[in-house]
Amino acid sequence: MKVTQAEFVISAAAPHQFPQDALPEIALAGRSNVGKSSLINRMLQRKSLARTSSQPGKTQTLNYYRINGQLYFVDFPGYGYAKVSKVQRKKWGELIEAYLREREPLRLVLLIVDLRHAPTEDDCLMYDWMQHYDIPCLVVATKADKLPRSKWQKHIRLAQQTLGMPEGQQPLLFSSESGLGREELWSYLVEAIHG
Ligand code: GTP
Ligand code: MG
Repeated sequence: MKVTQAEFVISAAAPHQFPQDALPEIALAGRSNVGKSSLINRMLQRKSLARTSSQPGKTQTLNYYRINGQLYFVDFPGYGYAKVSKVQRKKWGELIEAYLREREPLRLVLLIVDLRHAPTEDDCLMYDWMQHYDIPCLVVATKADKLPRSKWQKHIRLAQQTLGMPEGQQPLLFSSESGLGREELWSYLVEAIHG
């Protein structure tokens, strides 16, 4: 898809702030610092529209980006950052749960994991939770540029097995640094939106 227009819309801290125009939404979940915002920027070929953080765990809002007036990317706050308070963690859980369970325009959740490491316990919880509620989910393994190509397949399998993905499904290989996987991911997103 050719991105002609991309704009930040809102940092939503509560459901009443979610956009009302019913455009399809693609959400991005993953642990803090895994590369969610960088992936959005790479998909849009914009250097820093989505804020990449030097302060993990800081933002507790859902950040909406409108693309070509056709869809939204919804950037979630990352999970798993140790220094987040209990109160903040609870707030995160409530906002995400409200969104995932009740958000009608949600078409697909991209679960972003780090290709270099096995998915964490939090990644597995997130994945299981989405399976349980029948939320369409695509696992994307990013930061591929940080591993030699010869190790990609082994690590893709590791992620697939750790998450317990069904046979025949595997994470999509991605790099925000090199753009690897960008076209394939756009095809998948277009299908999820129109299909
Ligand atoms: P939170 O918003 O805190 O949850 O983090 P995030 O998941 O949005 O991660 P972010 O995109 O801010 O990236 C974190 C760091 O990883 C930044 O320093 C990025 O430059 C780096 N990074 C992200 N993706 C890649 C990638 O594909 N390759 C490389 N080499 N670095 C990456
Ligand atoms: Mg981010």
